[in-house]
Amino acid sequence: MFENISNNKIYRNLFDGDWKECCGGKTIKIFSPSTEELIGEVQSCTKEDVNTIIENSKANQKDWGDMPINHRASILHKAASILDENVDYLAKLLQLEIAKDKDSAISEVKRTADFIRFTADEGKHIGGEAINADSFPGFDKNKFSLVTRVPLGIVLAISPFNYPINLSASKIAPALMAGNSVILKPPTQGSISALHLAEIFNLAGLPKGVLNTVTGSGSEIGDYIVTHESINFINFTGSTEVGKHIAKIAGMVPMLLELGGKDAAIVLGDADIEDAANDIVIGAYSYSGQRCTAVKRVIVLNSVADELVNLIKKNIEKLKVGSPESDASIIPLIDKKSADYVQELIDDAIEKGAKLIIGNKRDRNLIYPTLFDFVTPDMRVAWEEPFGPVLPVIRVNNLDEAISLANKSQYGLQSSVFTKNIDDAFYVARRLEVGTVQINNKTERGPDHFPFLGVKASGMGTQGIRYSIEAMSRPKAIVLNID
Ligand code: NAP
Ligand code: G3H
Repeated sequence: MFENISNNKIYRNLFDGDWKECCGGKTIKIFSPSTEELIGEVQSCTKEDVNTIIENSKANQKDWGDMPINHRASILHKAASILDENVDYLAKLLQLEIAKDKDSAISEVKRTADFIRFTADEGKHIGGEAINADSFPGFDKNKFSLVTRVPLGIVLAISPFNYPINLSASKIAPALMAGNSVILKPPTQGSISALHLAEIFNLAGLPKGVLNTVTGSGSEIGDYIVTHESINFINFTGSTEVGKHIAKIAGMVPMLLELGGKDAAIVLGDADIEDAANDIVIGAYSYSGQRCTAVKRVIVLNSVADELVNLIKKNIEKLKVGSPESDASIIPLIDKKSADYVQELIDDAIEKGAKLIIGNKRDRNLIYPTLFDFVTPDMRVAWEEPFGPVLPVIRVNNLDEAISLANKSQYGLQSSVFTKNIDDAFYVARRLEVGTVQINNKTERGPDHFPFLGVKASGMGTQGIRYSIEAMSRPKAIVLNID
């Protein structure tokens, strides 16, 4: 099924409905983070390639935008079915390329098929409106505005390594339903999985040039592509550092940025501590903490801190550590640089007097799940995003201290509050400076039709199926004046 996309494991780019090599002839080798074997090579595109790809995307957008929306929806439905037929194959690829544990890999692919289907259906229901002028003082019924939604043009989709299939599709599918053409710049580590997704849209019957891909290192071609005058929208998910950089250089191009986080789980004195501990451990450590919405700090009332830490420790002891092939949930991090960074945070916490409850064990990129108690604000782990399996517990005296500490973070993606008291839950939720507050659950993005957004350094704009379609289209008003 996927034989066209590579030649002897040298992967090409989807261009004008076909799989082509880039002109410079250079490739980037992709190794498995877990087994270190060579999985394949992807094209290292040049600026010249980027120009050709953008020209092609521009030339093919109009016909796609003019295609009846139910036709567009049926192509997306077909793509979702092909994904469903290839769950096992694609999940294995994710295991190999980004060391995603088996369950998370299967879930990523299935969830993507559901996402595409829901988007196809939702897109059919996003229409316009007619607005009468007489609701505004001084106007009568002889004038009204017919408002429809039209595409923006070319959407540049840039996805991160941790969900190369899902976070590519969550940009591509809504952009297509809005009538745009799409250029996908996948994460380099994750490109091979994302190229398979592109082929699935291609096989589903997407007209040529409506989806093109461009592989290559973000640091080499990224600035050129994001500042290209023909890009009409940038949909980026990744680190705050790169997101801020793009926002700075891209000029007047509208964009959606989903960036880093430091999600807090706030545990109040009356919480169900056993449930909270279960949720916190799944939230903090699944896929070794390499999720933007991972629980990245615990803020707990002193009165229940001992009990909570004890239960979190017990749950951590049950986590299976190993390789993605062995069904472990704690797996090697994406690369050595990331593991070194996590180790730095661990070393800093130990040096500054945090109490190590469990962990601080390492085997190359594999960091064992690590838990610290009595973390204080002078420690880096209290503020920085590890993107790895290390969790700081910070003890506080009261609810207002918890809120104040949570809000001191530069990030504002999500937070959880665990309590049986609904008034306290809302007191905390309304004061937290984040996109979403979860009451009595771990922080998490789904279900994918909910709005998903970060504030402060965690992002700009709102994802979520309807929100994403709206973000990647605009109103067009035609005013009818009747004599
Ligand atoms: P990253 O290093 O920022 O990379 C993200 C994407 O940007 C990759 O495709 C990368 O390409 C590309 N890129 C790098 N430099 C670029 C440039 N100058 N111009 C254009 N594109 C450029 O992030 P990551 O390590 O893949 O992902 C982890 C981060 O993403 C974490 O901070 C996490 O919290 C965040 N994240 C946020 C969300 C959310 O929804 N809020 C979801 C997932 C992840 P290369 O791979 O070629 O460098
Ligand atoms: O890594 C960021 C993802 O958007 C998080 O999604 O909460 O479903 O793992 P998730």
